[in-house]
Amino acid sequence: MSQTIMADVKKKEAEKKIKRIGVLTSGGDAPGMNAAIRSTVRIALYNGLAVSGIRRGYQGLIEADIDDMQIVDVGDIINRGGTKLLTARSEDFMTEVGQKRALDVLRMFEIDGLVVIGGDGSFKGAKRLWDMGFPTIGIPGTIDNDLAYTDLTLGFDTAVSTVVSAINNLRDTSSSHGRVSIVEVMGRHCGDIALFAGLAGGVEDILVPERKFDLDEVARKILQGRRRGKLHSIILIAEGVGKSYEIAERLEALIHQEVRVTVLGYLQRGGTPSVTDRILGAQFGQRAVELLLEDKFGRVVGIRDNKIMDMAIEEALNEPKRFDQDKYDLAEILSL
Ligand code: F6P
Repeated sequence: MSQTIMADVKKKEAEKKIKRIGVLTSGGDAPGMNAAIRSTVRIALYNGLAVSGIRRGYQGLIEADIDDMQIVDVGDIINRGGTKLLTARSEDFMTEVGQKRALDVLRMFEIDGLVVIGGDGSFKGAKRLWDMGFPTIGIPGTIDNDLAYTDLTLGFDTAVSTVVSAINNLRDTSSSHGRVSIVEVMGRHCGDIALFAGLAGGVEDILVPERKFDLDEVARKILQGRRRGKLHSIILIAEGVGKSYEIAERLEALIHQEVRVTVLGYLQRGGTPSVTDRILGAQFGQRAVELLLEDKFGRVVGIRDNKIMDMAIEEALNEPKRFDQDKYDLAEILSL
C-alpha cells in the first residue's frame, strides 16, 4: 500500500467512530453468505478497520465465540456454499438476558458495529440491538427470497438453479416411466423458489402458498396433456402449500396414473454459489461496511431494479411481500 494511502488510512482511523466491526451469519445458511463475509472483511480491512468474526450467529455472540479476521481468513471461500462462520437459530437471543449478554460481549471485544447476514428473524435481532443503541447493518441472506424490500436475497438464485437441475433429472425418469412427478421445494411461507424454478424448468403446474389451487384443475391439465400424447408431467409444490404426499395420493386417484413425490429438502441450501449470488455478496458486503463508515446505522442493504440500495431495518421488515403474478400467469400459459 503506497505511503499516501497509508497516511490517508491513518488519518481516517483517528477520525472514525467505528474502528472494529463484527460479522456474523444467522438462521438458515444460504449460498453466497461466504461471498458477503469475504467482502465485508476485505472492504473493512481496506478501510483500516479491524474485524471480528462471530461464529454460530447470535448464539456464538452470546457465548463469545469470536476471533479476529484477516485477509487470509476469507481466502478460498467465495466458491463455497454454506457459511465459514457457521450459523444457528438462537432461542437465548430471543430473551432480554440474552440480548443484554450479547451487548456486553460486543463491548468486551471492543466491537463498534455489527454486520448481520441472515433472513427476517436475524434482521429482527439486528433491529433489537440497534434499538438498544448498538450500530447494526443487515445483509439479506436466505434462499427463500421472502424479504419484500429487496428483489433478491443471497442464495435464492443458486437455490433456484439447484431446483431446475433436479427438475431436468426428474423429467428424464418421469418421461421414461410415463409418470407424474411432484417436486416439493423450500421457501417457508414464500412461493418464489417454486415460481422461478417452475418457470425456468418448464413444469406443468406450480402450487404456491400465495395462490389457491384446485386439484381437479391440475388433474384436468394432466389429462388434457395425455390426450395430446404427453406421457409425463412435473408439478412443483412450495413447502408452504403443505402435504405433498397427500396431494399425490388424491391426484393419482383423479388421473389413474402413477404419481411420485420428491422432496428436495436441504439440497437447496448448499452448492457452489451462482455468479449472481457471488456478485451480490460482494456488493452487499461493500455497502454494509460503507454504511457503518458513514455512521448510517440500523439499516439493511438490498438490490432493486439492479441497483444496490439500503433502508431502515424497521421499514424493510414492514414491507408487504408482493407475489409476482406476471411470472405466475406466464408459467400458466407456457404450460398449456
Ligand atoms: O429459511 C430457509 C429455510 O431453508 C426454509 O426454506 C425452510 O423452511 C427452513 O429454512 C428450514 O429450517 P431448518 O434449517 O431449521 O430446518
